[in-house]
Amino acid sequence: MCGIVGYLGQREAYPIVIKGLERLEYRGYDSAGIVLYDGEKAKLCKTKGKVTDLKGKAESENITTGSIGLGHTRWATHGEPNDVNAHPHLSNSGNLAIIHNGIIENYGSIKKELEKRGYTFHSDTDTEVLVNLIEDIKEKEQVKLGKAVQIALNQVVGAYAIAVFDKSKPDEIVVAKLGSPLAIGVGEGEFFIASDASPFIEYTNNAIYLEDEQMAIVRLGRDVKVRQIKDDKSVAAYVQELQLNLDQIEKNGYDHFMLKEIHEQPHAIKDTYRGRLRTNEGIIKMAGIEDNLEKFLNANRIIIVACGTSWHAGLVAEYIFEDLVRIPVEVEYASEFRYRNPVITSKDVVIAISQSGETADTLAAIKLAKQNGAFVFGVCNVVGSSIARESHAGAYTHAGPEIGVASTKAFTTQITLLSLIALKLAQSKGMISKTEFHQYLAEMEAIPDKVEKVLLSDDHVKYISSVYKDVPNFLYLGRGYNFPVALEGALKLKEISYIHAEGYPAAEMKHGPIALIDEQMPVVVIATKKGHYEKVVSNIQEIKSRKGKIIGIVTEGDKEVKSMADYVIEVPETIEGLTPLLTTIPLQLLSYHIAVMRNCNVDQPRNLAKSVTVE
Ligand code: F6R
Repeated sequence: MCGIVGYLGQREAYPIVIKGLERLEYRGYDSAGIVLYDGEKAKLCKTKGKVTDLKGKAESENITTGSIGLGHTRWATHGEPNDVNAHPHLSNSGNLAIIHNGIIENYGSIKKELEKRGYTFHSDTDTEVLVNLIEDIKEKEQVKLGKAVQIALNQVVGAYAIAVFDKSKPDEIVVAKLGSPLAIGVGEGEFFIASDASPFIEYTNNAIYLEDEQMAIVRLGRDVKVRQIKDDKSVAAYVQELQLNLDQIEKNGYDHFMLKEIHEQPHAIKDTYRGRLRTNEGIIKMAGIEDNLEKFLNANRIIIVACGTSWHAGLVAEYIFEDLVRIPVEVEYASEFRYRNPVITSKDVVIAISQSGETADTLAAIKLAKQNGAFVFGVCNVVGSSIARESHAGAYTHAGPEIGVASTKAFTTQITLLSLIALKLAQSKGMISKTEFHQYLAEMEAIPDKVEKVLLSDDHVKYISSVYKDVPNFLYLGRGYNFPVALEGALKLKEISYIHAEGYPAAEMKHGPIALIDEQMPVVVIATKKGHYEKVVSNIQEIKSRKGKIIGIVTEGDKEVKSMADYVIEVPETIEGLTPLLTTIPLQLLSYHIAVMRNCNVDQPRNLAKSVTVE
């Protein structure tokens, strides 16, 4: 979590760093800070709150000049979010400035040693310890900044993406990475440092993504020098051309990124299957699967590891894989899997699902799987992300940048991609008839238009939201493929509106949650025609007879649920395995509108961050 931005060049760093921080706010937003060097002094400005608070403070204190600058937007780990704990941090002499995304686990023992040597600390952070360790080494060993950083990082345990400068050498920034992302934008006579490329995309398309355990010396007038942290060996810097454009990272007239991303889903789903779904030829083309087909077909089981919304996509995948491919599937929370001594063998295929590709628990889970000989396949959105690189093979969802903290298009594109994989394997294994396979392909191709149709219900969903916006609790129920959708609907509502919500398999309601139902309780029931419809109708009756309020997600033209429910939202008919791609949409809209009506910060819900790079 935390976003870092740096600039080194001829322009004023301030507007570039501030704008960059605004783009990275999805990574953390409880405090922010900036340091600029204008040739005389390193000027520091930090504040609790958001980047806009930082902007106000920096401008009122005239901290806006200098052509080298570092900025940080924080999601607190060590030390509460306040002005002092905000980054950047300066070393005791005031010469070195650092920004850091990650955690230094052994900072306590290092701090004690430094205190013995006379260092004092103002904040509660691990980062202030790191910058003083670097300073101590630099002074003690009489080495340059780059060397001091390299020695220091060999003493720390933890994760980091850092950028450091020394004000006595203001033409250089030293950066390093382990476990947290770091990109270097290479412009004409200028450099940009950032957690992802969004802060510099309007200045340059050329970027170097550091690998784990690499550092780089970024110096004006010189090529970027990349080195291995462990042994200080030099590594060739690979400059890649980015495909990102500015439109993808701006709101484009929408009030929030979340709303924009909900509406982008028809397009995003198409981008996921583009080139892969070849309806005319009757095939699915996926190099990552084709090259490793034997691994999948000979697997004893598939283990899916993921967190949060991606875990919900994994649950949908479990249904579709077992249904179509007849391979046993287990879906695991990565955070549990990595610590519970699971049985993993070389006959297992592990699929890691992650939008960001940086989630610490998912990354650790795949490392464990690899150590135990499993074949690891990554399903990520962010190209070049750590999980994508750590996997043996994989496929990208190509959903485009997702900036709203609440995941929307990531979920539907993950389901799209996992469905394609399941279909491809089912066909390769001879588990699906030609007719059924073709039906699936045609139906998959029709999904974007159907999602577009569901999006037309926005005003209706907004009205329903106005009716229930003040309730304290919500229940979401679904069966089969729509059970994970119920979980996802509840998660969306909780995270952005702060209303307590639970998702449950509809039939499980009578084993507990039914006790909660009274005339105050809205229950969202996904009751599409394909998917145990009659059973779900019985569950609706059970709710009705206890006076619960019903919001039904139903198939177009449905009459039965309509006659019982307080409100219904219709979705077009599709193959059962693809219904989550449609039934999810109204639930995203419902949580969005309720959150807006409750004046919640939809794109940056409290206590959350988009990519959880700490465990
Ligand atoms: C919820 C949400 C989170 C993420 C989770 C995993 O809306 O966004 O639950 O799904 O933190 O993140 P990724 O997919 O990046 O691994």
